[in-house]
Amino acid sequence: MTGTERRGGDVTGYFTEQNSVETVNGRTGPNADPRLAHVMASLVRHLHNFVREVELTQDEWEIGIDFLTRTGQICTHERQEFILLSDTLGVSMLVDAINNRRTPPATENTVFGPFHVEGCPVRQMGDSICLDGKGETCLFAGRVTDLDGKPISGARIDVWSDNADGYYDVQQPGIQPQWNNRGVFVTGDDGQYSFVGIKPVSYPIPDDGPVGAMLAGLDRHPYRPAHMHYMVRAEGFQKLVTHTFVGGDKYLESDAVFGVKQTLVAPFTKLDGEKTEWRSDYDFVLMPARQKR
Ligand code: BEZ
Ligand code: FE
Repeated sequence: MTGTERRGGDVTGYFTEQNSVETVNGRTGPNADPRLAHVMASLVRHLHNFVREVELTQDEWEIGIDFLTRTGQICTHERQEFILLSDTLGVSMLVDAINNRRTPPATENTVFGPFHVEGCPVRQMGDSICLDGKGETCLFAGRVTDLDGKPISGARIDVWSDNADGYYDVQQPGIQPQWNNRGVFVTGDDGQYSFVGIKPVSYPIPDDGPVGAMLAGLDRHPYRPAHMHYMVRAEGFQKLVTHTFVGGDKYLESDAVFGVKQTLVAPFTKLDGEKTEWRSDYDFVLMPARQKR
C-alpha cells in the first residue's frame, strides 16, 4: 500500500503539516456510520486548526494529555469530572441551548448539574424539604401551565438545593439527612405548587481536582450563584430542567458554569414577622411535546 492510495473516497497521502485534516479524515471508510463520520470530521478539523493556531508545543501537548488522564482518574460513581469540564467550558450550556430552544412565554432550560438524585419521596404541597433545620426558611410557590396559561394537572416537580452550608446532601452522607432539601411535588387541577425550603446560598463547584486547577490557572472563581433546581415533567409536554436564581446574588454574572438566564432570576421577598422568612413566586410554562418523526 502506498502513501497516496485512495481510502474512504478521499485522497490520502503521507501526513504533512499542510494536509493533516484531509489525511486523517480521508481514512474514514465507506461503511462508517454517517453521523459519526460527520461529527468526527468536524472534530478533527477543529482540533487540528486549534493546534495550528496556538502552535502547540510538545510540553503543552504533554500537559494536556496529563490533564485529561487526571480528569478520567478522578471520576467515580459520585464524581464526574468530565461533565464538570464540559460545564466550565460552556459546552454543557451550549448543548442545552441547541437542544432546548424555547420561545416566550415557555420557561427556559438550564444546566442539569451532577446533584440530582432519582427516587426522592413525593411530598404533600406545602411540606418542608429542609430536614437539617439550617438556613433561612423560604416559601416557594407558583403554577405549572401550558403556553396559553392553562394549568397543568399531574405535573411532577422535582426540586433540589444545597443546604445553608453550601453542600448537597449527597456531598455530605452521614452529615446531612438523606433527601435533605429535596422533594417531589405533583400538581392538582389548579396546576399550583408550594413548598418550604431554604433561601439557597451560593457555593463552589467541586474544585479540588483538575478542573479546579484549570479555573485557578485562568484566574476564574469556582462559584455558582444561589439557585433552586427544578425538573418539571408532565404527560404531553417537554421536560423542563431549570433553576430559579436568587436576585442580587454577587455571582449572577460570573456563574462558573454559565447557567444564568435573565428570565430565571426570581424575586425573593423578605416576610417580616412571619414564621417563614422569605417567599419566592415563580410560574413554570411548559412547551408541548415534540412530534415524533
Ligand atoms: C449544580 O448546580 O448543582 C452544578 C451544576 C454544574 C456543575 C456543578 C454543580
Ligand atoms: Fe446546584
